Amino acid sequence: MIIKIGHRGARGYEPENTILSFEKALELGVDWVELDVYRCKTGEIVAVHDRKLDRSTNGSGVVADKSFAEVRALDAGKGQHIPTLEEVLVCVDKRAKVNIEIKGEDAAKPVAEIIERYVQENGWQHEDFLVSSFNHYELLAFSRICPQVKVGAVIAGIPIGYAEGATKVNAYSVHPSKEFINQALVDDAHNRDMKVFVYTVNDPDDIERVKALGVDGIFSDFPDRL
Ligand code: G3P
Ligand code: CA
Repeated sequence: MIIKIGHRGARGYEPENTILSFEKALELGVDWVELDVYRCKTGEIVAVHDRKLDRSTNGSGVVADKSFAEVRALDAGKGQHIPTLEEVLVCVDKRAKVNIEIKGEDAAKPVAEIIERYVQENGWQHEDFLVSSFNHYELLAFSRICPQVKVGAVIAGIPIGYAEGATKVNAYSVHPSKEFINQALVDDAHNRDMKVFVYTVNDPDDIERVKALGVDGIFSDFPDRL
């Protein structure tokens, strides 16, 4: 069975990375919820995709330069606030697993601390989480603090050596783009005992194409299409 991953919640239906979007993804029966996180200036970990606030909110400027109060005052669509990582976990409430994609720098430690707190105090398991990033140095930093949680190496193209680079962070999974994924990459990852979770696949033809390659999971803005 293909693992269904709700991309930024269910971005095709609700404003991305908001509680509305995560609720929608859960309603659609996802196995995993994916969110993007940055650390804001005052240290809180917030769910937002871009380095800047301009595209997805009514604000502007760099997330990492803003206080939590400034971030919190913004409308992320349909009157939704940008949620904290903790608020997303309270929303999901173990109804799905959670893929936290670290976007900015300096987020590995606070993300690890939040996961550990939810494991120790709120009944979550380490295996309920997958931490991923395009920045593989952040994954190394995260794994040093929290080796019990799986990490996923997000990649944009087809690297020399296919999934070999992901072994350097001891990745559980490699996350290629639908634009570049090919059979050689999928086979190489599987030969290295890594899962392949492909992003972001919305078009039915693309869904069939990546399924035929034998991927293990698919990120989609429309997870009900999977
Ligand atoms: O983690 C998979 C995918 O979400 C990466 O791309 O830009 O949507 O975060 P992006
Ligand atoms: Ca993402």
